[in-house]
Amino acid sequence: MYESDGEAGSSGIPNNLDAYFMPFTANRQFKANPRLLVAAEGMHYTAHDGRRILDGTAGLWCVNAGHGRKPIVEAVQRQVARMDYAPSFQMGHPVAFEAAAKLATMLPGDLDHVFFTNSGSEAVDSALKIALAYHRVRGEGARTRLIGRERGYHGVGFGGISVGGISPNRKFFGNLLPGIDHLPHTHNLEKNAFTRGQPEWGAHLADELERIVALHDASTIAAVIVEPVAGSTGVLVPPRGYLEKLRAICSKYGILLIFDEVITGFGRLGAAFASEYFGVIPDMITCAKGISNGTIPMGAVALRRGLYDAFMAAAPENSIELFHGYTYSGHPVAAAAAIATLDLYVKEGLFQRAAELSPYWEEAAHAMRGLPHVIDVRNLGLVCGIELEPIAGKPTARAFDAFLRCYEKGLLIRTTGDIIALSPPLIVERKQIDEIFGTLESVLKAAA
Ligand SMILES: Cc1ncc(COP(=O)(O)O)c(C=O)c1O
Repeated sequence: MYESDGEAGSSGIPNNLDAYFMPFTANRQFKANPRLLVAAEGMHYTAHDGRRILDGTAGLWCVNAGHGRKPIVEAVQRQVARMDYAPSFQMGHPVAFEAAAKLATMLPGDLDHVFFTNSGSEAVDSALKIALAYHRVRGEGARTRLIGRERGYHGVGFGGISVGGISPNRKFFGNLLPGIDHLPHTHNLEKNAFTRGQPEWGAHLADELERIVALHDASTIAAVIVEPVAGSTGVLVPPRGYLEKLRAICSKYGILLIFDEVITGFGRLGAAFASEYFGVIPDMITCAKGISNGTIPMGAVALRRGLYDAFMAAAPENSIELFHGYTYSGHPVAAAAAIATLDLYVKEGLFQRAAELSPYWEEAAHAMRGLPHVIDVRNLGLVCGIELEPIAGKPTARAFDAFLRCYEKGLLIRTTGDIIALSPPLIVERKQIDEIFGTLESVLKAAA
């Protein structure tokens, strides 16, 4: 049973669940039957009732090296004791510089400059602002239009929800940013259901960017932002040739291409970044989550050298080049966590490990084909999406029920709509992959 440091009832559940307005959660449903996690180690959580829960989702796609890793914990402990905080504007501290330099060695191409944020949402909004400012400092200030994609998730800032393509995340929040357009999403069950890896059909959907350029004129467009693999809307793997086309069209018209790698970064596909995996180099990469193994909040925007240089060239040496930043940009404790995390990824070869495990993962995932109500399985690296047929008139209910039943059986999965998304820590063992899909299979069969 969990012993709380604070005020917990005899059940291990806090006496007051009311005050906390939970994010992206059915608050009343949750509080009526709470699912509380109280400890974590390796591939497992411990629930408040003492049960071990196998983590099939790396927390929220962030704990790529597994939970409670000693080198990260100790780095955080050392740093918080040595220096808790230092101002980030017109001052610096060594740990942030070291973290940026280390991250730069992992980034593809000439993406070798790093702007720190505290989350993926902030990374996205920062990247969009950097894109606008970049064009402006080069004398192309008319490039203000931003292009996202339907079914894109780019966090919850106003920039992110504006370029994002998820209706409930947008409709409650007013007019959003002006001057936004969206590419069509690439999801098509008729053409691509049960594809292993990248689908053959759909590269032509990138040509829609040409249509958008023709409509608005390239001189008004600042940037295109996409997730290389859309994660939050259900693991949408890019069709073969699609990202290459987007890159070519952006280059042709001087439009910046931003890959939002908040989920795909740090080994999820079996390479440091999806950009490296697909061999398509964007102008900026947004990342977060796995950058610090989820231990301390952190995000980052990586920029190509030319972008950084443009800012340096545009202003006198004693003036601020970018009027943007956060109190906690490059926070010492987060930076220490990031350094230890990146070192751990390298030392344990975790990205390589993900690549080596991915065929086994693919087999196990596609064994779900044929189970009741499974209408698609898709996968890449150590991620997969299993799409279920919605219950008529009750969208999301079938997948949410599977989530609850899996949790009862000691497995954490994630659902979005009627899609189950699985993305375990990269330390997952084959027998744990068997356990993940074995539990899911029994749940899907039982619910039939
Ligand atoms: C692609 C992508 N971008 C941005 C975000 C937002 O990150 P955060 O929740 O850290 O703000 C997420 C979170 O899942 C994401 O998947």
